[in-house]
Amino acid sequence: MSQVVRFSVSLEAQLLEEFDRYCQTHQYPTRSEAVRHLIREKLNQDTWQANEQEVTATLTLIYDHHRSQLVSRLLELQHDHAEHVISTMHVHLDHDRCLEVIVLRGPARQLRGMVDRLRALKGVSFGQLVVASGEPRCAGSTPPVGRQGAS
Ligand code: NI
Repeated sequence: MSQVVRFSVSLEAQLLEEFDRYCQTHQYPTRSEAVRHLIREKLNQDTWQANEQEVTATLTLIYDHHRSQLVSRLLELQHDHAEHVISTMHVHLDHDRCLEVIVLRGPARQLRGMVDRLRALKGVSFGQLVVASGEPRCAGSTPPVGRQGAS
């Protein structure tokens, strides 16, 4: 095991309170353990996204469909990467907001570029990527199915 190093972090009191609640909810014995876990998780995900390995992932977006041009930009970006978009699910959250889950498969680096552009669109208030698998596709897997849902 490598040497353990101590460092201090400055946080707003409220953020620390929320973090302590998080540690309690997830039953971390110490803050250090929680911080280690979160840092490893984030670094792992970053590494995966930076390489050429083929991955399967979901991107969950929440956006305001009234925002000018947003829906067409979202669709345009997805069509530009049609070979990597396996399926989408669209849920009308309320009068203004839509939730969209996009299932993606392809080389991690290429997916990352697309995901970064989708998340950066004005009117997108939430965008979370979950990398589900970095394993090579198994021989018996089926080809991508058609897209579902619309804006
Ligand atoms: Ni909608």
